[in-house]
Amino acid sequence: MDGNTSTHKIIIGAAQNMQQIENNSIELVVTSPPYPMIEMWDNIMSEQNPEIKTALKNSNGLLAFELMHKELDKIWTEVERVLIPGGFACINIGDATRTINGDFQLYPNHSRIISAFQKLGISNLPNIIWRKQTNAPNKFMGSGMLPSGAYVTLEHEWILIFRKGGKRQFKTDGEKLHRKESSFFWEERNVWFSDLWDLKGTKQKINNSETRKRSAAFPFELAYRLINMYSLQGDTVLDPFLGTGTTTVASIATKRNSIGYEIDPMFSDIIKDNIKNTPVSFLNSYIQNRIENHKQFLVERNADPKKKEIKHYNENLKMQVMTSQETEIKLSFIEKLEIVDNKITCFYNSVNPDKIDLPKKKKNKAI
Ligand SMILES: C[S@@+](CC[C@H](N)C(=O)[O-])C[C@H]1O[C@@H](n2cnc3c(N)ncnc32)[C@H](O)[C@@H]1O
Repeated sequence: MDGNTSTHKIIIGAAQNMQQIENNSIELVVTSPPYPMIEMWDNIMSEQNPEIKTALKNSNGLLAFELMHKELDKIWTEVERVLIPGGFACINIGDATRTINGDFQLYPNHSRIISAFQKLGISNLPNIIWRKQTNAPNKFMGSGMLPSGAYVTLEHEWILIFRKGGKRQFKTDGEKLHRKESSFFWEERNVWFSDLWDLKGTKQKINNSETRKRSAAFPFELAYRLINMYSLQGDTVLDPFLGTGTTTVASIATKRNSIGYEIDPMFSDIIKDNIKNTPVSFLNSYIQNRIENHKQFLVERNADPKKKEIKHYNENLKMQVMTSQETEIKLSFIEKLEIVDNKITCFYNSVNPDKIDLPKKKKNKAI
């Protein structure tokens, strides 16, 4: 990346071996694997290890669960290899409930994945619960109103947060400045770093096609937030289970490079169509909304006589900001995308505050 471009690679192949990626070269992993013991993924997991099919056929649910995770473990080993020291991995996963041979039980995917990462020496940090309320008519399972035979409804998924080693180091002045340029706004921090995400009501559908729904794609907003929270502009984001390519699209929007693996060759065109069908205007509206939301935040905050005066100012955006950490934030709009084979190049323009309607620096204020 030369400052105003980013590149994105799509690799069709199994992520158990990510030989195209060098050791210690990835700053962030954002992904969602097939969910063990959720039936829609039985076939794809059994193709990777036929013993899984046999275990399911023999109604041995716990063995099937373990074998499916053993397959995922190979990918987590690769994740550990390619992450830089201080790099993050954010894994979206749901637990499964399933009745096998009359035995209904929970298969706790999230805790099995946490154990796998801990065994690799990677630390688990506070995780995020993604609340997904359902209004399905069959949402309550079991014995209805009769006690001791009903089950609570799973209405959440997990976003597990891991870090390889200690804090990432930013040593030189250049590295420190670049980190500040990639900062987010104070009021964004207050929402994004909550441990409970309810993404309803956020602008999240990039392309609400049937394929997207069937592929269990996660919302654009989920990937967009995680990338902003745990990486810098110009970093490389890896998704070993790319599906429809949501992580690629969010990496484009956040000015990061990306690499994605997908085992099913059918997805190659789906991913590229997804990128082509997500208009640049949609991606830029995310940046525009962040600026507009910050503008609105300032209007409300400045109108409240009980609040302290805002003391900091960002010259790049010509806007007040709450803290000194936000004074160097730089945002970019996407100018154009080029797709050649399985490689995408994206070109950017820095946000020009003189060309957008933003509140100007207030006169006579100590900033
Ligand atoms: C839950 S979906 C990911 C959805 C994705 N986050 C999105 O937004 O579209 C999991 C994907 O992993 C793929 N997959 C399964 N096993 C894989 C493997 N070993 N290597 C690479 N991809 C794999 C599946 O084909 C599926 O597309």
